[in-house]
Amino acid sequence: MQHWTPASWRAKPARHVPSDYPDPTALLAAERQLQDLPPLVFAGEARRLRSLLGDVANGRAFLLQGGDCAESFDDLRADTIRDTFRLILQMAIVLTFAGGKPVVKVGRMAGQFAKPRSSSVESQHGVTLPSYRGDIINGPEFDAQARDPDPKRLLQAYSQSAVTLNLLRSFATGGYADLHNLHRWTLGFVSSSPQGAVYDALAQRIGEAIVFMEAIGASPQNSPQLRQVEFFTSHEGLLLGFEEALTRVDSTSGKWYDTSAHLLWIGERTRNLDGAHIEFFRGIQNPIGVKCGPAMTHDELIRLIEVLDPDNEPGRLTIYGRFGSDKIDHQLPSLLRAVRSAGRHVAWACDPMHGNTLTATNGYKTRPFARILSEVSSFIQICKAEGVHPGGLHLEMTGQNVTECLGGARALAEEDLADRYHTHCDPRLNGEQALELAFLVADELKEGHVAPAFRLAATS
Ligand code: PEP
Ligand code: CO
Repeated sequence: MQHWTPASWRAKPARHVPSDYPDPTALLAAERQLQDLPPLVFAGEARRLRSLLGDVANGRAFLLQGGDCAESFDDLRADTIRDTFRLILQMAIVLTFAGGKPVVKVGRMAGQFAKPRSSSVESQHGVTLPSYRGDIINGPEFDAQARDPDPKRLLQAYSQSAVTLNLLRSFATGGYADLHNLHRWTLGFVSSSPQGAVYDALAQRIGEAIVFMEAIGASPQNSPQLRQVEFFTSHEGLLLGFEEALTRVDSTSGKWYDTSAHLLWIGERTRNLDGAHIEFFRGIQNPIGVKCGPAMTHDELIRLIEVLDPDNEPGRLTIYGRFGSDKIDHQLPSLLRAVRSAGRHVAWACDPMHGNTLTATNGYKTRPFARILSEVSSFIQICKAEGVHPGGLHLEMTGQNVTECLGGARALAEEDLADRYHTHCDPRLNGEQALELAFLVADELKEGHVAPAFRLAATS
């Protein structure tokens, strides 16, 4: 392996990493300050996640990864964090019960602050400014000063990640994640959902399983699994100066870990083999992900896997297909075959968000629930047909009751989008839509049939 250091990416072209900081010295000073600050996660936790993702790659577990498209400095609120955390747990219960496999829970949280943008500029009423690139880089307000990259934002992103992670750790182990509460909340959703009757049977069976476990003596007091969960964090490793500053040698293994999150992924726009992102990622030992869109060729994918996972170790690499509901049938089967015939052990997951974005007639960027569901359904069916484990979901979602994606059981329409369209970047599933997706996917995961619930929703 060619010599690697946390800074070796700097000799390569780095797409989507800003080079226009007005004060480059201040940027270096901020990065140096970060290097002296404590790690956000512990390398042993990243190793634990890598081993759980090994179970995903080997077909013994399912990955559920979700959260905001972009976290925001203006929206650091306990209830926002709590509601998304709770939603992931509720979905995980439904999926665990249906799939009969443990669900590995990963938040797109506590660090998801840097965004690649399809256009580097934005125009409004004849004025053109640099695009908003995520709160770790610049501000969303449409004024020239806010859009300048600001090094102070790296430190604020670090602080907000620490605060968020602290709360997530408390929720995960401090009693909030009690299975009884989560099930009660899910029942609330079932009774108020227009499709409640369809979900009722599954929710009742989960309730019966809980009663059964209690009857044989399992209680939150004697069985920690009933009252606490393992929860991990992740974000796109886009802003490499920030990631480099948090990359440390683990004293236990002597290897390099990026301690900004447990899992990091490489985006569709920065996965070029000769680029800085691949160079950085190949040297860190965290579990990592790569997005895989319709432009991915077989050769490219195999070379990416060889560079990022030279030891072919299940759990190191997760590939997130994000093709679009109209393209997945054409693209995914042969990619699955190419990876299999190369003898490579990766986990396959589905990001049904980024290939299904469109602009509504009233100008809102949105995503139709039916298309999201259709891509997930195709993913599961194609994987099953190819003998590959459909390993998980990567979703943009929030526990808040936003109106950003169209459709779902409440048939959100274009004219509803304006009500609560709060995202700083891409449209997210709201709590109801996400839980509904979990119920529908649960049906798909069960062997060999397409559930009536799916047929119902796919027409909405
Ligand atoms: C994202 O996950 O927010 C993203 C930008 O995705 P992709 O790289 O797949 O376009
Ligand atoms: Co996004």
